[in-house]
Parts: sequence; structure tokens; C-alpha cells
Amino acid sequence: MKKIQIINGPNLNLLGKREPTVYGSASFESYLDELRARYPQCEIAYYQSNIEGEMINKIHEVGFDYDGIIMNAGAYTHTSIALHDAIKAVNTPVVEVHISNVHARESFRHVSMISAACKGVILGFGLDSYRLALEALI
Ligand code: DQA
Repeated sequence: MKKIQIINGPNLNLLGKREPTVYGSASFESYLDELRARYPQCEIAYYQSNIEGEMINKIHEVGFDYDGIIMNAGAYTHTSIALHDAIKAVNTPVVEVHISNVHARESFRHVSMISAACKGVILGFGLDSYRLALEALI
């Protein structure tokens, strides 16, 4: 059984309510139910935090044990050297995901501080970005 950790960053607890034209109207919890049903061969753990340090603690906690981390760092993607360093510090491969196509949005979203530390990046496919990342890790 593969152990996969999903980490969602700031404001992603509001998926379904937050800017639905950009991020869709489904809650992450309902999407997660579908994902777990579709991939019974994976144990999919989920963690969300609005706090950068808590995300770093979660990376440290699972990053020597789990088979993969799928991370949507939200706006910390564009600012956090500390998340970059945390990803580099662990063994578990991290796939960076984004729901929206950040390159089709404001220029401040075009830069990612974490991409270079990640195994790969999937973005722009709505919530399906998470499933595509899971496929990549499997
Ligand atoms: C996001 C894109 C980020 O620019 C933004 O700050 C988010 C969500 C996405 O999934 O499209 O919070 O990571």
C-alpha cells in the first residue's frame, strides 16, 4: 500500500466557497472522498494549514516515511524559501500542484520558490491536478 500525503496551504480550506470561478465549487473533502474511492491501493493522508511553519513540520514528519507528497502551497508557493528548503531536506518526492493555471494569471504567480526542489509540477487542471500528481507518484 503506497502512503501518499496531500498538503494544502493557505486559503485552500475554503475551496468550494473561495473564488469559485477560479477554483471551482467542490469542497476539497468531497473531492478527497472520490480520490480515495478511486485509488484504494493508496493510503491518502490529508493535511491543510494556513500557517507556513505547520506545513514545514508536516513535511518533516512524513518526508522520511511516505512514498510521496502532493503539495499545493497556495500563495506560499510564490514566497517561501523555507518550504523550498524543507522539501530539499527530506527523501520523499514532492509533486507541486495548482488548481489554476498560475501562468495565465497575475505575474506574481508566475514565480515558484518551490518548483526547483520538487520532483515535478502539475497545474491548471482544476482539482484533477491532484489526481494527475497521484498517478505520477504511483
Ligand atoms: C493556487 C495558486 C496560487 O497562486 C494561489 O495563491 C492559491 C491557489 C492554485 O491552486 O491554483 O492559493 O496554488
